[in-house]
Amino acid sequence: HYKVDSELKRSILINAGLSLFGFFVTLKMIPVAARYVLRRNMFGFDINKRGTPQGEIKVPESLGIVVGIVFLIVAIIFQYFNFTEDSNWLVEYNAALASICFMILLGFVDDVLDVPWRVKLVLPSFATLPLLMAYAGHTTIVVPKPLVAYIGLEVLDLGRIYKLYMGLLAVFCTNSINIHAGLNGLEIGQTVVTAAAILIHNVMQIGATVDPEYHQAHAFSIFLTQPLMATSLALLAYNWYPSSVFVGDTYTVFAGMTMAVVGILGHFSETLLIFFLPQVLNFLLSLPQLAGIVKCPRHRLPRFDPATGLLTGTKDGTLVNVYLRLFGPRSEKSLYLFQSFLLKLVKSLFQFLHKVSHTNTPDLLVVLE
Ligand code: UD1
Ligand code: MG
Repeated sequence: HYKVDSELKRSILINAGLSLFGFFVTLKMIPVAARYVLRRNMFGFDINKRGTPQGEIKVPESLGIVVGIVFLIVAIIFQYFNFTEDSNWLVEYNAALASICFMILLGFVDDVLDVPWRVKLVLPSFATLPLLMAYAGHTTIVVPKPLVAYIGLEVLDLGRIYKLYMGLLAVFCTNSINIHAGLNGLEIGQTVVTAAAILIHNVMQIGATVDPEYHQAHAFSIFLTQPLMATSLALLAYNWYPSSVFVGDTYTVFAGMTMAVVGILGHFSETLLIFFLPQVLNFLLSLPQLAGIVKCPRHRLPRFDPATGLLTGTKDGTLVNVYLRLFGPRSEKSLYLFQSFLLKLVKSLFQFLHKVSHTNTPDLLVVLE
């Protein structure tokens, strides 16, 4: 057992080293790629700065493509250094990479061609196919406590339907990150926070058990989360307020897909959804507009007043707007306060979930802190 653990540690450390390398490569390549996308007229205007000199600048778009490519290179090379023995591992790992790669392609296609958003909504279900076809793991989910009495089971075996669940999870994770956007740094900021929670959760779970198969599942998700985190942080350095590059849907769908894959193959997709609570809330607020019951404009952003430099909440159903309407106009820069508000909200929800579910929330609360 000691041997398994020390080899696992070695693999995780090598993965961390490769990720760090990926961070610097991404940092270096983004300005280069930014020149190329501008040459191809791929840019956006910073809507929340309209009417100011900064609002007239063409901000290069879709720099998520750099993150995606560097991530793939790191993840592919890493296979050479994974010392844990499991024949199934390589199959699932490569299926996961195929799904992520397919998603990057479709995200980039969307950025270049501007696919109508109803089509965009279902693209992740195609990208998830390689993983669904290769998946041979368990097909059970844990039933929330209040429902146990009705269903009569604590664990529900979904069988083939589990693959449908996986597909839907991928569609949700990708789109929910993409529509929780519109402030400089928000797309990556939420990814980095969620990825950090995933990493800590994995480390704690590995520490909590001695079952090697369990270790393997959580190590698996660490192997993909570390490069995601490292390459995202490099992009965040440029996307931070005031953004000098935009990430594009290439990035949002890539990040969402990677986290969905990590949750599925790490066997903690229910916990993953708890880490996605801000996105779940934003999605629920968005439902009337997404379903077409209320008119959905191309951009659902706050209103910017160039005179005061402040953002005011609009009637569009997003968390950002709800926050601004509750607490009054803020500057885009100071909206980092918004994150601490979210954290408080998520924490209360966690405590509530602890009462009603099987989920090991005391541990998750530590992760959140
Ligand atoms: C999603 C949201 C949309 C939001 C948009 C940008 C839904 C259904 N769609 O659309 O409401 O307006 O993301 O966040 O909720 N931009 C900024 N500042 C930023 C980030 C983006 O002004 O910090 C603008 C830029 O003009 C950029 C454009 O948004 O070029 C990118 O939009 P895109 O990612 O293509 O929008 P969607 O993902 O389709
Ligand atoms: Mg987007």
